[in-house]
Amino acid sequence: MSDKTNTIAGWTLAGCFVALGATIVGGMMFHSGEPKKEGYPVEAVDEGSGSGAAAEVPIAALLPTADATKGAEVFKKCAACHTINQGGANGIGPNLYATVGEAVAQGKAGFAFSDALKAKGGKWDFDSLNAWLTSPRKFAPGTKMTFAGLSNPKDRADVILYLNQQGSNLPLPAAPAAAPAGKDAAAPAGGNTTAPAEGNATAPADGNTAAPAAKK
Ligand code: HEC
Repeated sequence: MSDKTNTIAGWTLAGCFVALGATIVGGMMFHSGEPKKEGYPVEAVDEGSGSGAAAEVPIAALLPTADATKGAEVFKKCAACHTINQGGANGIGPNLYATVGEAVAQGKAGFAFSDALKAKGGKWDFDSLNAWLTSPRKFAPGTKMTFAGLSNPKDRADVILYLNQQGSNLPLPAAPAAAPAGKDAAAPAGGNTTAPAEGNATAPADGNTAAPAAKK
């Protein structure tokens, strides 16, 4: 009898340990879970501001603070394939003197551009250069410029400013601060007829897409 009692007592005790163990393990799981949870709102905020910033930074916004001296440094990556001096030889890539403002893939006598780049048409301006230097392969799939691209927008702005100073000297585009303001001013004029009914003449649905990011 006392044996049975001991057995029962033993199992009961064992059960307590199991329960205790589960509690401890559970507690550990919650503890390890908490920091992750704290991480999510941060990501959510990133996504929130990211959707606002998803539109790439326009090159015109970066050029005013771009630095041609740094651009000359960045250009060292390009110099493996490109000369930039006036009348410089074509190498693996074409000479790039006065390329800014020139027609795409037309400029340098004797350089055999790829069909992919020739097919692009248009001119090398600040925007097209920005897109090209972000990812040559995306800009002109099939290009023979085997350069991955410059992922840092500042590097691109610096090197584009530098390129522009080598024989082109096109006027820099107006800083875009004025452009979004212009759009905002124009948008309510079009969409406003029903918005004032909601009591806020300056908050039409259209104008709001960018505003919350700024207000938060
Ligand atoms: C590995 C060699 C290589 C590197 C590095 C390289 N390029 Fe090129 N680049 C080329 C080739 C090849 C072409 C011609 C592409 C084609 O025809 O598809 C080219 C074309 C260009 C053009 C078009 C010229 C025109 O007249 O249409 C520009 C602009 C240009 N490169 C800028 C740059 C810049 C700026 C860098 C550095 C950030 C750079 N490249 C790095 C090989 C290179």
